[in-house]
Amino acid sequence: MNYEEMIKLAEKASENAYVPYSHFPVGACILTEGGKIYTGCNFENASFGLTICAERNAVGSAIADGERKIKAAAIFSPKMDNCTPCGACRQVLREFKSDEGLDIITKVPDGIKVYPIEELLPQSFIL
Ligand code: THU
Repeated sequence: MNYEEMIKLAEKASENAYVPYSHFPVGACILTEGGKIYTGCNFENASFGLTICAERNAVGSAIADGERKIKAAAIFSPKMDNCTPCGACRQVLREFKSDEGLDIITKVPDGIKVYPIEELLPQSFIL
């Protein structure tokens, strides 16, 4: 699975987003150390603060399946180029960074961009 394919799966996942309030669909696709793939979309709630982002939805599926090491996460929104994870999702993704690191992948007009998690969340908090 290459990073371009992961963006395509994130795009597909964004089609299931439940976004009646923001109208801002997001999809995420994460790759584990063992090569497994999990996807997620955002889903909102009438109580706005209960919204779950696409990235945390995908991470939850991986964790529920017993995974603990994430190598890469691709994020896609049809509404925004270079849609990077929000601060909360950066911290949640960082928790499960694989021993080889964790790349964040976004879609840009001429292809993809790849950010090591350290670039998006420097000096991160971890126990
Ligand atoms: N959202 C995500 O799913 N991931 C992010 O990293 C940024 C924000 C969602 C939350 C909400 O449903 C919509 O995008 C607008 O904030």
